[in-house]
Amino acid sequence: MEALDLARWQFGITTVYHFLFVPLTIGLSVIVAALQTAWHRTGKHQYLQATKFFGKLFLINFAMGVVTGIVQEFQFGMNWSEYSRFVGDVFGAPLAMEALLAFFLESTFIGLWIFGWDKLPRRVHLACIWIVAIGTNLSAYFILAANAWMRHPVGFEVNEETGRAQLTDIWAVLSNDQAWSTYLHVVAGAFITAGLFVVAVSAFKLLRSRYYGDSGTPGDVPHRSEHDLFRATLRTGMVVTALAGALAAFSGHHQAQLMAEYEPMKTASAEALWDGEEGAGFSLFAVGDIEDGRNHVNIQIPKLLSFLATNDVNGEVAGINDVQRDLAAEHPGNGEVDYRPNIAVLYWAFRVMIGFGLAGVALSVAGLWLTRGSRMPDRPWMYRLAILGLPAALTANICGWILTEMGRQPWVVVGELLTAAGVSPGVGLGSVAFTLTGFTLLYGVLAVVEAGLLWRYVKAGPSHVVPNKEDGADDSDDSDGADTAVPAFVY
Ligand code: HEM
Repeated sequence: MEALDLARWQFGITTVYHFLFVPLTIGLSVIVAALQTAWHRTGKHQYLQATKFFGKLFLINFAMGVVTGIVQEFQFGMNWSEYSRFVGDVFGAPLAMEALLAFFLESTFIGLWIFGWDKLPRRVHLACIWIVAIGTNLSAYFILAANAWMRHPVGFEVNEETGRAQLTDIWAVLSNDQAWSTYLHVVAGAFITAGLFVVAVSAFKLLRSRYYGDSGTPGDVPHRSEHDLFRATLRTGMVVTALAGALAAFSGHHQAQLMAEYEPMKTASAEALWDGEEGAGFSLFAVGDIEDGRNHVNIQIPKLLSFLATNDVNGEVAGINDVQRDLAAEHPGNGEVDYRPNIAVLYWAFRVMIGFGLAGVALSVAGLWLTRGSRMPDRPWMYRLAILGLPAALTANICGWILTEMGRQPWVVVGELLTAAGVSPGVGLGSVAFTLTGFTLLYGVLAVVEAGLLWRYVKAGPSHVVPNKEDGADDSDDSDGADTAVPAFVY
């Protein structure tokens, strides 16, 4: 193994870990802001409880997202100095905008939101969480614009003397079709994940209170108002997931068209399509021989790939062999490069992303039907199944990124810079192995802290939330006002 391989593993591991928190933060910021708005408009104590309860879970995720995001930036300087030299001029602008406009906005107003309860006027306090939500989503746009540029580089020219890409048109970078399309798709995935997070937490609380009582001890008396609260949040999470599911399918279709246009090798590899076809089918299950370049078994839905990739059921989709030939002819200076990414990984990542993601969406749609009117399912396994929606969504997101990033290989910037040319020249295998071990250990500890915190807050539940004095809260509050169950971080 070479330093390059290990550096790629390190980037992959830290990115996947970071991206467990990102979609939750993007989606939960808006859900919490919407819950607080509902409280502001109706004065119902239930919404205040939900805001504070899910607000805490959001804050834990937010903190983890920030910490793990900083590590991502270290990597550019550590293992990818040649890449940083090449893209630095172009990425400087969107990443500075992210820090100055979006991240400062988020971090300032999140502080005001945390400490401003009962101190700031209600409207101002509500505005704070909306600014956090807008900042979080703006942040995502700038980062994704930089990422999209690597798949479809625009608004730049390469300086022949320095060998660096120089920004010529920032607007072209920010309005790149790949940027806004990726943004819509990632935000859809984020809302599916956050919706299913709310569903999973609510289902867990309902399961415990319905079948085991509040304390988790069989025979305990169920907590009526918590039941109503979590029934409402369960359905809210399901509505969010169902709507985001429609956006994911729509934006995913657009992503597939851009992928076929800008990265035809990625499309062909994700479908194990060896030779170009008109009216190509979407593969459901294939077993093949990558060395030989053929499939032994390939079960397909006729014409669906052509529709996904070209918006025309009879459209032509290029195959792996065609694109390899074209790229070799286009880049003679690169020598004998195998332009095929890891076909097996791409093929399965594509299917798992769609399958797991849409299974979570289907679960929510079925859940909305089962909980219509005042109905509630009376089988514990149904609540357990609802909890499984969350790992399904996280897996779909991770597979989406694996498809995007591994599918771009061997390029780090499509058509401009090969990944092998982006690595830091002076960093050896031992150094990368050392930092990789360090990050893995650190991330292991962080995972335990995060899981422990989430578990404690979810278990403690929202009943410690006392109604605001001037609240006009409805009298369904059954809180005893004691917050002893919550270890810290009570705001
Ligand atoms: C009909 C369903 C879907 C289709 C057709 C679809 C299509 C795609 C395509 C083609 C890409 C690769 C884009 C590229 O590399 O240029 C992608 C990436 C991605 N997908 Fe999906 N997807 C679907 C559902 C989902 C769901 C349900 C989720 C999450 C819950 C999800 C999360 C992601 C993520 C995080 C990425 C990486 C970011 C990006 O490149 O946009 N996708 N998807």
